[in-house]
Amino acid sequence: MLLSLQLDGQGALQRQLYRAVREAILAGQLRGGLRLPGTRAMAQQQCMARNTVIAAYAQLEAEGYLQVRGGSGYVVQALPQKQSVDLRGSPVASRAIATPFAERAAQLAQQRAQAGERVAPRLDLRYGLPLSIPGPLVAWRRALSWAVERASMDYPAAAGLPQLRHALAHWLGRRRGFVVDPERILVVSGAQQALDLCVRVLAGPGVRAMLEDPHYQGTRQALQCAAVPWQAVPVDASGLCAEQLPECVGALLFVTPAHQFPGGAVLTPARRMMILDWAQRQCAWVIEDDYDSEFRYDSQPVPALKSLDRADRVIHIGTLSKALFPALRLGFMVLPLVLRDAFLGAKWLSDRGNPAIEQLALARLIQSGRFEALLRLAKRQLDTRRRALIAALQQHCAGALQWRISGSEAGMHLCIWFDALPAAHTESVIAAAYAVGVGVYPISPYYAKPPAQLGLLLGYCGLPPAEITEATRRLCQVLDTYAKELSRPHRESG
Ligand SMILES: Cc1ncc(COP(=O)(O)O)c(C=O)c1O
Repeated sequence: MLLSLQLDGQGALQRQLYRAVREAILAGQLRGGLRLPGTRAMAQQQCMARNTVIAAYAQLEAEGYLQVRGGSGYVVQALPQKQSVDLRGSPVASRAIATPFAERAAQLAQQRAQAGERVAPRLDLRYGLPLSIPGPLVAWRRALSWAVERASMDYPAAAGLPQLRHALAHWLGRRRGFVVDPERILVVSGAQQALDLCVRVLAGPGVRAMLEDPHYQGTRQALQCAAVPWQAVPVDASGLCAEQLPECVGALLFVTPAHQFPGGAVLTPARRMMILDWAQRQCAWVIEDDYDSEFRYDSQPVPALKSLDRADRVIHIGTLSKALFPALRLGFMVLPLVLRDAFLGAKWLSDRGNPAIEQLALARLIQSGRFEALLRLAKRQLDTRRRALIAALQQHCAGALQWRISGSEAGMHLCIWFDALPAAHTESVIAAAYAVGVGVYPISPYYAKPPAQLGLLLGYCGLPPAEITEATRRLCQVLDTYAKELSRPHRESG
């Protein structure tokens, strides 16, 4: 029998023959019961060595596509007939996405893909970019190679390696103002996993969530995907307006006390006490997102809300994304005692714990004092970048525009507001900046109730100072031209 098999020319001949026969079987060209040419005949037909054919047939037999019959005969195994039914619009097709959660998660992924379609501009002021200096990477490489020699190859403890939890507990005592038993610490894959776990573990039926307005999008997205009802509570210069927290038993309150995201306020002691009081009265959980507390430029870091939490209502979340870099995907939670087991179980179900080598490397970095040195270095670098941005705004952003900045005392970003420019112009200003190679981003997506005026969130982490200056100069030029255009009297037509 002469077979017309199409070899694809990719890789070893044996694999080519294997693929060609398999494709022909799957396509129904070689039907069940058909006897293939023997290995010698096939080798002659395909001009290849007999051993090559033997190896390809053996693989097909091992996978169940062929059966050896009567010594050397290879017979094609029957496959079920393909049903060519049009499923569009049928109940089967509408069940392809199985749950409402899956639909919302798929929508989120699509939105993210669309947002990521634009090629990043050369001078990108995007919030969230890592600090582009070699120090953290050099230290990390050393810590990793130290850890790789010592880490156990077994599954790590789901709560996190004891060495890392001890190192973090010591660190929190020194830098965040509270003493914690390492048993209460859960190592997670960044703050985002912690936020998602909070939603999964705590948002049962009837539970409502409160978010700051503005707030971190990742928190809102986790709530929205899980269909948890949420409401926004305003923020002012003293942080979350705690006196506006509603009566709501069992609520979840997400806050950024050390550095309100993205507005920049520090939550005042009075408001902190109000929140803790409210949480105790309402049996609510307060989720403290302590994402960038180390980077405060005019003073020492502000102690965590957790340090005042006598009633054990606060879940404290920390991340290494800002202190080191986001690619690490490492963070941690400090859990109230009654919640520990529930979170531990959820984490174990989700991923059996974080990679052990990275955890050991981080423990080493913290215990050796290198982490603290890296933080000092990062803080100096960030401060230089922050100053470069503010100085360039002051130098170049004059002219027809009124502007003000907020939240520049800490972190890795600041907000710039143009009170005379309506928010409706945001997209065209961003497009004009993009056209001159500068990436800037709107502040409106962080609000439940977007502001009326144009606001931008400028991250200063990803570019060296000279490039920040250049980006700002170009941005100001764009804005200046834009403002002049707007103020030009429109000619009457006719
Ligand atoms: C306020 C805030 N919370 C949480 C996160 C998430 O951090 P991670 O990278 O650890 O998931 C970010 C990241 O930018 C953030 O800005």
